[in-house]
Amino acid sequence: MVENYKLNPNLTKTAAVAEWLQQRIAWQIYLPNQRVPSVRKLAKLMGISSFTVVQAYEQLVATNVLVAKPSSGYYVNVQATLAQPNSDKKVGTKYPVIDTRWLVQQVFSDIPHHRSPGVGTLPRDWVRNDKMEWAIRQVTQQADSFIYDYGEVQGYLPLRQQLVQQLNVLGMQTYADNVITTAGISQAITMIVQLLTEVGDTVVVDGPGWFWLSSCLQQQGLNVVAVERDHQGPNIEQMQKLFETYHPKLYLTNSVLHNPTSYNLHPARAHQVLNLIHKYDAYIFEDDLYAAFVPDSQVLRYASLDQFERVFYATGFSKSMASGWRVGLLVCPDNFIDEVLRIKTLSNMNTPEFGERVIHHLWTHGEYRRQIKKVHQHLYDAHERMRKALPKIGLAYPEHTQAGIFVWVDTQQDTSQLALDAYSDGWLVAPGQLFHPDASASTYLRLNVSTTSDAFLAWLGKYLDN
Ligand SMILES: Cc1ncc(COP(=O)(O)O)c(C=O)c1O
Repeated sequence: MVENYKLNPNLTKTAAVAEWLQQRIAWQIYLPNQRVPSVRKLAKLMGISSFTVVQAYEQLVATNVLVAKPSSGYYVNVQATLAQPNSDKKVGTKYPVIDTRWLVQQVFSDIPHHRSPGVGTLPRDWVRNDKMEWAIRQVTQQADSFIYDYGEVQGYLPLRQQLVQQLNVLGMQTYADNVITTAGISQAITMIVQLLTEVGDTVVVDGPGWFWLSSCLQQQGLNVVAVERDHQGPNIEQMQKLFETYHPKLYLTNSVLHNPTSYNLHPARAHQVLNLIHKYDAYIFEDDLYAAFVPDSQVLRYASLDQFERVFYATGFSKSMASGWRVGLLVCPDNFIDEVLRIKTLSNMNTPEFGERVIHHLWTHGEYRRQIKKVHQHLYDAHERMRKALPKIGLAYPEHTQAGIFVWVDTQQDTSQLALDAYSDGWLVAPGQLFHPDASASTYLRLNVSTTSDAFLAWLGKYLDN
């Protein structure tokens, strides 16, 4: 075979050399333990400098593709061929079981957004902040001053202070000392569960409610019971009964722009819930992940009524900025902050400060707000579209839906079968069954207003007609 020494022009020279060699290892032109061309020889054949080849080889050593043997050269690592990522490995199950694991797998799979009306995130071009790279560069310039230390266990202080100010605007009074950064709201949840519950305890969640939450709580050995959630909040008679029967320590809820209904909380209902919480000596974990999407600062949270006496409040940036930063903020009642800090220290010591600083930079320079305003408009338009489109296929747009990411639609048919059928036609949908801890059958679908295309609605209309 005549060897081709042309490099991929879309890559830097170093990356292109690395790619060239990796391809040949994958094609078994160079076998494990075999010596690869010497630096000088390859540089000559490719018409590039030896320095570039050394750089590429060193990168491949660092990623365990090659092994460097002093005064001998570079050899293919035996492990390299074993560790090749194998894209054919994904086995497509023909009739998958619809459960949280299934949905999470699909969400992390490569089904494109426009085929995923069931996905939980917004399209990249809605949330991408064009000042992100700028903020990263700014923080990089300061990196030397913080990157080599563990940093403050409680989290980057200016970010915590910024949250305190923001909460103040929303009518919640707290101090930076009561705020702790977490690796997303999900870590805040696991920490508070560890703080307040023991295996076998009962906890209350909303039904419907975010599927990861129930699965996570069940995995911790808790008995998870759901209270029906409507457009005003949890059903108070049911909640009273659950408290009488189980004496739960904790009610975990996503109060504003609730996942999956996009409902908010009614003040009278919030008041009733807090009465029960006091009466039964329990606590609320209030998940306010979608806070940034609420254009109105008057919208009520449990924490604004309770002022952090019985409410742990968490917010984050996963949907509104970038989930990859894994930054969340948790506000604790005074008497719990030390214990929560201890739990954080004894779990993963600390959260990385880099992302906390980038978020702080974007937030305090007004860039976060600027971007979010655009998202408000997108969400508003998308809801208007759904309000008109759903009746055309015989479905009702629920009256009290707010402009969050989702709309919770009753199809009048079992949606787990629908989800399987949609899946075999290449659509990822989120059936109602996922949003109840006991996985009871449901006729609802959670539709993401940003990814529910006309093509999907046409598919759905036809499916429901048959
Ligand atoms: C209601 C709710 N809370 C929290 C999360 C996850 O938050 P984080 O990425 O900050 O852990 C999600 C993700 O879908 C969610 O829907």
